[in-house]
Amino acid sequence: MLFSPSGVSECLSEWEDLEKDYQRLQDTHRLYKQKLEEVTKLQVSCHGAISRQKKKLKDLTASLEECKNESLTPELSPDDVDPITEIEDSIKDRTDAFCEMEAFLPRKNGLYLSLVLGNVNVTLLNIQTKFAYKDEYEKFKLFLTVIIFVFSFICRFLFSYRALDAVFNFLLVWYYCTLTIRESILINNGSRIKGWWVSHHYVSTFLSGVMLTWPKGALYQMFRSQFLSYCLYRSFVQFLQCYYQSGSLYRLRALGERHNMDLTIEGFQSWMWRGLTFLLPFLFFGHFWQLYNSVTLFKMFLLPECKEWQVLMCGCAYMVLFMGNFFTTLGVVYQKYMNNQDKSKTL
Ligand code: COA
Repeated sequence: MLFSPSGVSECLSEWEDLEKDYQRLQDTHRLYKQKLEEVTKLQVSCHGAISRQKKKLKDLTASLEECKNESLTPELSPDDVDPITEIEDSIKDRTDAFCEMEAFLPRKNGLYLSLVLGNVNVTLLNIQTKFAYKDEYEKFKLFLTVIIFVFSFICRFLFSYRALDAVFNFLLVWYYCTLTIRESILINNGSRIKGWWVSHHYVSTFLSGVMLTWPKGALYQMFRSQFLSYCLYRSFVQFLQCYYQSGSLYRLRALGERHNMDLTIEGFQSWMWRGLTFLLPFLFFGHFWQLYNSVTLFKMFLLPECKEWQVLMCGCAYMVLFMGNFFTTLGVVYQKYMNNQDKSKTL
């Protein structure tokens, strides 16, 4: 329990202590504000220096290119060509260095974030906060995945009410919208999330929105069970995906933070391939389920009793999801395989 003064003298001495403490607090806060101003000035100066460097390097690259073309003529000796190649290599490294520097400087929001959040700075300025935000994003996805799994189970097997389905679809719209915002913030903070995964969430928002407006009728009932079973399966895959991605995040963080690495790059690669080979069959099955949903909806659209525009819209959305997910996943795996080959060659 906190000490509470009883007599007047105790109150006076307590007040004196509080006064001194308050003075210290004021000094610390003044220093904090001063440092914040210094940080802001440093940020502006770094931004300026980076843009200057970028511009000058661009001009220099163009001049070097001209010199190289001239080197084909006898005026430039082969001895001059070596330094030119060296400078060009250094310029490439410099570009990566600028990207790393910019990840810790405030950035202008993209169009989507400007529209949703306005012109507020969403750049997190240290690596721990960046990791913590990503970690929180993965936990949020996991938590919502469990809720969506339970909800779809209830709608699929326990209660069949259009109103409950509407609440479920509304939850999906909200969930995917939130993901697009969080992912845009992550990208702003240097995450390498591929554009398709963000677009995937825009398309999913659209799809859930259309499902929400689909009126109850024979066609809705025809597709309902398949849709809810697909949602159950997708939540299950999402659960596996979250487990893989949180593990990957944890391991990469350990690689980045530890100096005497007890977790090696090769160790991470082998863990990643084990995780991926387990996950991929489930992912591909999910993609083909999306294709199956799309074909089912297109077939329903051809039925003479089909009057609802939602049938065609949902069919197209599932087709887009299938193509985007399937080909992007293939691309990601191919890219990882090629990187792996390059690494084993250099070792
Ligand atoms: N959604 C959100 N972010 C994703 C993502 C996804 N589907 N796939 C990858 N990312 C993120 C990663 O977390 C990583 O972020 P970071 O730079 O902040 O660390 C970045 O993108 C680069 O990841 P990458 O190395 O390309 O892939 P990975 O090893 O993390 O994951 C897969 C590879 C194939 C497992 C993953 O892309 C995936 O699950 N894709 C399938 C999604 C799908 O089809 N869902 C529908 C199922 S029915």
